[in-house]
Amino acid sequence: MRALFVTAEAYPLAKSGGLADVSRALPLALARQGIDIRILMPAYSSALLHLKNPRIVARLEPLLGVEDGTLISGELPDTDLPVWLVDAPSLYRRSGGLYQDDDGRDWADNGLRFAYLSHVAAKVACGLLDWKADVVHANDWHAGLLPLLLSLEPAPRPATIFTIHNLAFQGNFPRDILPAIGIPDRFFSADGLEFYGQVSFLKAAIRYSDRITTVSPTYAKEVLTPEFGCGLDGVLRDRGDDFCGILNGIDAELWNPATDKNLAQTYSARDIAGKRICKAELQCALGLEICSETPLVGYVSRLTDQKMADVVLQAVPFLVESGAQFVLVGEGDPAFEHAFEALGGRYPGVAIQIGYHEAAAHRLQAGADILLAPARFEPCGLTQLYAMRYGTIPVSRRTGGLADTVVDAGAATLSNRTATGFLFDDADLASLEDATGRALALFEEPLAWRRLQLQAMAQDFSWDASAAQYAALYHTVSGLPYAPAREPAVAPAPVANPERQAIR
Ligand code: ADP
Ligand code: GLC
Repeated sequence: MRALFVTAEAYPLAKSGGLADVSRALPLALARQGIDIRILMPAYSSALLHLKNPRIVARLEPLLGVEDGTLISGELPDTDLPVWLVDAPSLYRRSGGLYQDDDGRDWADNGLRFAYLSHVAAKVACGLLDWKADVVHANDWHAGLLPLLLSLEPAPRPATIFTIHNLAFQGNFPRDILPAIGIPDRFFSADGLEFYGQVSFLKAAIRYSDRITTVSPTYAKEVLTPEFGCGLDGVLRDRGDDFCGILNGIDAELWNPATDKNLAQTYSARDIAGKRICKAELQCALGLEICSETPLVGYVSRLTDQKMADVVLQAVPFLVESGAQFVLVGEGDPAFEHAFEALGGRYPGVAIQIGYHEAAAHRLQAGADILLAPARFEPCGLTQLYAMRYGTIPVSRRTGGLADTVVDAGAATLSNRTATGFLFDDADLASLEDATGRALALFEEPLAWRRLQLQAMAQDFSWDASAAQYAALYHTVSGLPYAPAREPAVAPAPVANPERQAIR
């Protein structure tokens, strides 16, 4: 079974959020299931810098007006997982974010940037490099045109699976983009990729993929309703049983408090003493009072409406009055960034780190007692999973993947030892404060708190079970027989190519 995994980001080559984490951990887990899987993504400068063993394997014919395209092969750092980077300097090598410039404006040519990714991916999947995919697994709107392009290929063509990581990001562009992105005008219809008068990459994916998945069972149900469907609920409902939710897992090696090199002291459920040291180090590094009895509440997140950043902002005075410290690692909407920074100056127990800091996110997960992981909607959410693994108790809204992964600490679940966090229902300040207040009250009972931490740490959120579901789906769509791997398979070696040459 050969699978091409197409994504706009994969850790540590490029990351803006959870998509990058999944795009590393899921292909690795599928390789362990015996699948010959390769990642294909843009060659941003950061990706070129970090790729293991980079070498040019093909110069691409001019396509969509892009004349400088090459394919670079290598492996994902610290693994043997093959990666192809689509190198088009005019599209991907620029200073700024993956999708936006330094001022937070979407790159004006995003439509072309990601259409090009799909066109190249289609060629690779169909054998450009003496390797043909049985299945193409495309992710989020950035790879949304790929199933449509493959549907135009003569049989036998690769089967297609598309995963929605966030329905709110749709890749919608004016109709007149069609010639530039190489899509014939006949696809601009209600049955095709037309969406309220625009071209929608995400709608194209939903219409033309063999199967569609999203990243938790509850979100899969929610998006079939107008409240969560972002206008696409009807299109998804039309796909019936072709659409399902498969819960994300976590990379249990990268996110492991027993081995995490970012921490001042490692620890595990068997010996959790190191967590106190991580907390003291965090307090010290951020200029907070060093005190293990003071509850430390963390928030590591994109600062957006989705993540209820506005409500968290309003809850900070309550946290301070409750005697808690508050630590934030985040970036996003500039208005939220400024408002949080202002709060940091006002309260000595509040530390605000604006920016994207991978190591700081790990240290926060280890040093905090409680993690705020609320959301108005949440396809899956990974920070609550990392929190539990680090013995940090999440406070989350009962929605999407948060509802599927956190068990609220009530009288019954505390006594039958299934509780792992605190949940609330309404996306408002009173509800967030009420749930956080319940967490702070339990923190005052050291024995009960310790038991809750150990229950959270005992949860298995590793990828194995969910990767087996994806593997089964790959086999269903491709028609190839499914024999689950008994032994972990070694990721296959990269393709040999006589044109290989070093690029640096
Ligand atoms: P989303 O993808 O919607 O942002 P997830 O919870 O699925 O939410 O994934 C977020 C990922 O991004 C996690 O790995 C989290 O640690 C990381 N993250 C979010 N904000 C920051 C930040 N400012 N610095 C470092 N890591 C961050
Ligand atoms: C998206 C979602 C998040 C999910 C992540 C990985 O960014 O917002 O809920 O965990 O993708 O699938």
